[in-house]
Amino acid sequence: MVRVATHPLIRHKLTRLRDVATPTADFRRLAREISLLLAYEATRDLPLESVEISTPLETMEGQRLSGKKLCFISVLRAGNGILDGMLDLVPSARVGHIGLYRDPETLRPVEYYRKFPEDIKNRVCIVVDPMLATGYSAAAAVQSLKTAGAEKIIFVCILAAPEGMLCLTEAHPDIEVITCAIDRELDDHGYIRPGLGDAGDRLFGTR
Ligand code: URA
Repeated sequence: MVRVATHPLIRHKLTRLRDVATPTADFRRLAREISLLLAYEATRDLPLESVEISTPLETMEGQRLSGKKLCFISVLRAGNGILDGMLDLVPSARVGHIGLYRDPETLRPVEYYRKFPEDIKNRVCIVVDPMLATGYSAAAAVQSLKTAGAEKIIFVCILAAPEGMLCLTEAHPDIEVITCAIDRELDDHGYIRPGLGDAGDRLFGTR
């Protein structure tokens, strides 16, 4: 299932994020704000249970989250740029990391780092990476989580290319994908067009 988050605040902030004139500090802040809103989308269907509480005036039936707890999985390094916004919304979530590089010959992702919480099987896993470009890394990250025992997986990005969306959903039709926009295409250098450029470089000011 694919969900495009179209809240006006997301659209407004995404336009500023895309703008080449947006400086690094603003880019970082906007990415954090957008990711908080994306976390809101990603947690929309979490199950609730009834609980009786006492207000200062009387007892009442309230609701609280039930079922599996959350875990965010950041795909290094750009995933870290949208992690803090999500943690702002769900501070008690656990965090895992996965690092992948592209093999220069096969152009396929190779895992070089993985650290997941031990109880990953019992958690809803939200994989975060701002750009779903070819989809190879995203599909590999999801596969790695499944191999580690994860059962409920949601992939969250800021921008997706149609090619990446197809690759990820074909490889893992059982997961949910949430994005702010599906752009026109991937160019010959693997950049999403019109896109926002290199998310890692813009987040960390490395270019
Ligand atoms: N990664 C990025 O940071 N930007 C793109 O456009 C594609 C992949």
